[in-house]
Amino acid sequence: MIILGIESSCDETAAAIVKDGREVLANVVSSQIKIHEKFGGVVPEVAAREHLNSINLVIKEAYEKANIEPHEIDAFSSTVGPGLVGCLLVGMNAAKTLSLVHNKPYLGVNHLQAHVSANFIDTDLKPPFVCLLVSGGHSQIIYVKDYDCQEIIASTIDDAVGEVYDKVARLCSIPYPGGVLLDKMAAQGNKNAFNFPEARVGEDEFSFSGLKTAVLREVKKFKPDELPKNDIAASFQYRIADTLIKKTLNFANKLNCKKIALAGGVAANSELRKRMEELKQKGFETYAPQMKYCTDNAAMVASAAYFNPIKCENSLMLEVFSRA
Ligand code: KG4
Ligand code: ZN
Repeated sequence: MIILGIESSCDETAAAIVKDGREVLANVVSSQIKIHEKFGGVVPEVAAREHLNSINLVIKEAYEKANIEPHEIDAFSSTVGPGLVGCLLVGMNAAKTLSLVHNKPYLGVNHLQAHVSANFIDTDLKPPFVCLLVSGGHSQIIYVKDYDCQEIIASTIDDAVGEVYDKVARLCSIPYPGGVLLDKMAAQGNKNAFNFPEARVGEDEFSFSGLKTAVLREVKKFKPDELPKNDIAASFQYRIADTLIKKTLNFANKLNCKKIALAGGVAANSELRKRMEELKQKGFETYAPQMKYCTDNAAMVASAAYFNPIKCENSLMLEVFSRA
């Protein structure tokens, strides 16, 4: 089954063509980061307008790269939420229109399920597994019992991990989106330079607001040009990864589940990926999407459309939604 997927929930306009949920025939992403950089974050109205400018171009490029004609597509899909409503509408209306024009089904996809599905691409991963999903908008541990049966077993009570990365980066005057730059700086720093605290919350909760405040307290002690940014980045990154891995491991052990996967934009983080690799020595089978499928993309949308589309009687009646 060949599915065309569209992603437009935030600041990436993307189209991809994927066969049977695992084989990517084309993956095109147009990022708006440069446009939003000067605002220090995504401006929803500007993002929606940019999606409109790019959507037809990325779809056309996906067809060309896959060397596929529209009539060869078996279903059209898009993210319907959670995300920015104006942005989601652009992708959803494009996919629904294609489905009507070519008389093929439209499949709506949940953005978080799409991040989980990124793990199916080019692998033979099968449920059950525990998935640590960390993105700019969400931090969750999900028990993926089956492709279409997933249970959230832990989630954030304040900021999402990617959001904390971006905010801490801003405190250190690192431009938006800070996550990837902070990760690079951490590689040059000493993780023991600062002993940042671990939040005392329930085992099914994440909280990183205390960590953010602790970083701010340290930043204030230095003159801006004397700030040991690399050491702060390394100590902060160590604390985040350590907390996330410990919690995930805890649940995997409780569920007696030997497979653990990583998902979401922060799955691109080097420390998290390293810590996941280390779990192999403890007898776990670990998965992390390829870097290009960690941050928002449409291959993961087409994959989720194959494995786990939103269940509904008439998918053309699906509406976009902003919150999970
Ligand atoms: O999944 P994603 O592309 O968008 C959402 O669905 O939110 O995630 C974007 C988030 C941003 O907050 C970005 O700073 C973070 O992922 N991110 C990283 C890294 N690469 C992207 N955070 C830490 N380390 C990275 N290497
Ligand atoms: Zn995302």
